Amino acid sequence: MTIAPRLDARLDNLPDYPFARLAKLLGGPPGPDSIVMSIGEPQHTPPAMVAEILTANAAMWGKYPPANGSADFRDAVTEWANRRYNLPTGLINPEKAVLPVAGTREALYLIAQTVCGDRGGQRPLVLLPNPFYQVYAGAAVMAGAEPVFVPGAHGAASQPDFSTLPAEALDRTALAYVCTPANPQGMVADSALLERSVKAARRHGFVLASDECYSEIWDKEPPPGVLGVCAALGEGLANILAFNSLSKRSNVPGLRSGFVIGDEAVIHAFSRLRSYGGAATPLPVAAAAAALWRDEAHVTETRDLYRAKLDIAERILGGRFGFYRPAGGFFLWLDVGDGEAAAIKLWREANIRVLPGAYLAAEDSEEGNPGHRFIRVALVHDLATTETALTRLAAILGE
Ligand SMILES: Cc1ncc(COP(=O)(O)O)c(C=O)c1O
Repeated sequence: MTIAPRLDARLDNLPDYPFARLAKLLGGPPGPDSIVMSIGEPQHTPPAMVAEILTANAAMWGKYPPANGSADFRDAVTEWANRRYNLPTGLINPEKAVLPVAGTREALYLIAQTVCGDRGGQRPLVLLPNPFYQVYAGAAVMAGAEPVFVPGAHGAASQPDFSTLPAEALDRTALAYVCTPANPQGMVADSALLERSVKAARRHGFVLASDECYSEIWDKEPPPGVLGVCAALGEGLANILAFNSLSKRSNVPGLRSGFVIGDEAVIHAFSRLRSYGGAATPLPVAAAAAALWRDEAHVTETRDLYRAKLDIAERILGGRFGFYRPAGGFFLWLDVGDGEAAAIKLWREANIRVLPGAYLAAEDSEEGNPGHRFIRVALVHDLATTETALTRLAAILGE
């Protein structure tokens, strides 16, 4: 007799990942002629320097990369953060406050394992926005914590204000995820909101994880980040971690390269955990990544391309489906009444794949699923494809 292996029952509490749900809804994967706007995978050409530097550093494939990466990588991201957020020299110690990660997804997941221990017999809480990047909830559940979905302070297209939660809840909190600019809605947390969150984290002893991987894809002005807010507060990086990535900034989602910067004690613990279970960044990848963080020309070009796509979107969709230009990121968050029905219609009638907003949100006891009425449309293609797709989308959903 074979006894089937017992799996972790917590896995049953995870909904299927959004793309698996979408494949089920639409009855299969996309074909070669499909226009895939469901996934935030930039289709822009990666900078040529990536292939050149990987080749030049090919000898390093023969080396195990250290968990903390190369000094050159840590210096490059420190210089970048100092420039980007106008930080005082010394706020970030590149030796102790910077960690390379294999894309931010694994880091956003693993950080929950680092901070969600038992709190005097109580299950810790993890705060997250709703709608949200699905990894936050998966991380909380698998770390044995209780996810708390916090709606936007001013409706579905606004950032949550964690500082307004009751003190007992904040005392039980181990980790809070901020996403700015937000996936899926594209709104930005302003400095005042980030400051309230930083202060709440410090007052109640939790870690504020600020996911800023869309920070460089902005429309009118660069969004503030948690590092800049900490610099202004003048009390170092206590209790905060900033996550960022090259996937969107530099059009290299396949490179799997990002970083975490923040509280040195948390970074130390995180690095210890990751030396057991995290994927270290290969040294040739770290060399290419360092060069990308040192170059802004390709990022300016990328931003201009997204702006041109937002211009197209505004021309075609303006005044309909609750269209607005997202302050950051490259998603349209369109109010179509019933996101699943719209996704099916677009797929059947136009071979266009978009994601129902409900798959990016959790049921709220008062309001139901805040993503239900929406679709998320990723503007990741070239201008001509974007124009074709949005014209078809407007015609089909406007009927
Ligand atoms: C909000 C958000 N955070 C993090 C990630 C992870 O990106 P990566 O692992 O490529 O850095 C994504 C990817 O889509 C995202 O949308």
